[in-house]
Amino acid sequence: AEIVIVPDAATAGGLVADEIVRLVRARPDAVLGLATGSTPLPVYEALRPRLAGIDVSRVRGFALDEYVGIAADHPESYRSVIHREVVEPLGLDPALVRVPDGSLDGIEHAGDDYERAIEAAGGVDLQILGVGTDGHIGFNEPGSSFGSLTRVKTLTEQTREDNARFFDSVDDVPRHCITQGLGTILRARHLVLLAFGSGKAAAVAGAVEGPVTASLPGSAIQLHPHVTVVVDEAAAAQLR
Ligand code: F6R
Repeated sequence: AEIVIVPDAATAGGLVADEIVRLVRARPDAVLGLATGSTPLPVYEALRPRLAGIDVSRVRGFALDEYVGIAADHPESYRSVIHREVVEPLGLDPALVRVPDGSLDGIEHAGDDYERAIEAAGGVDLQILGVGTDGHIGFNEPGSSFGSLTRVKTLTEQTREDNARFFDSVDDVPRHCITQGLGTILRARHLVLLAFGSGKAAAVAGAVEGPVTASLPGSAIQLHPHVTVVVDEAAAAQLR
């Protein structure tokens, strides 16, 4: 992987946004792999001015994951977050940006449907990734198979506590999610993993330099030929 250590998250956001702009200029119907959570927000913020004046009407997107059993119009559903943070500010066509369907009705085929949609789009060109403090990417928690495809998973207590800040209390954080698998993520043509702050230092070191192990799902990126890791000093602190 190419490791880029930057002074702050805003610098990282600018770098990754520049890369996305290059991609969209070269390929107006580029397929972006979108992440939620706090980490990618500086990328989306940096994209807004950079994409002004560029035709984004054909840009497509696939989110990594969604909570299961949350109302689609709940402000913290990833469908809502992706629309609020990405689709609306960047002026993307909402019909071209998909989020896994976490509604209970039809959940048994939602994973397969999502895989087929990604395939029909020709695959993801650039996948933005954050990493959980427990090393998850997407919501592939420790123990996830490297060949896994989009499916329903149980969130760890650690992840539910980490995400409680988005809800009134930890009890309101859903217990299940539907997430692209590690196998799905590895099919994207370029992986861009971002991490900021000391809380991510162990996960970053494990993902980049640790043994490739299902105990640290982020280590799956070592199996991919084109990975860029963009981190601040604090998140890089445990790299050798
Ligand atoms: C979000 C996702 C997760 C987050 C991770 C880090 O779509 O798939 O893997 O990237 O939980 O979350 P933040 O960025 O909030 O620290």
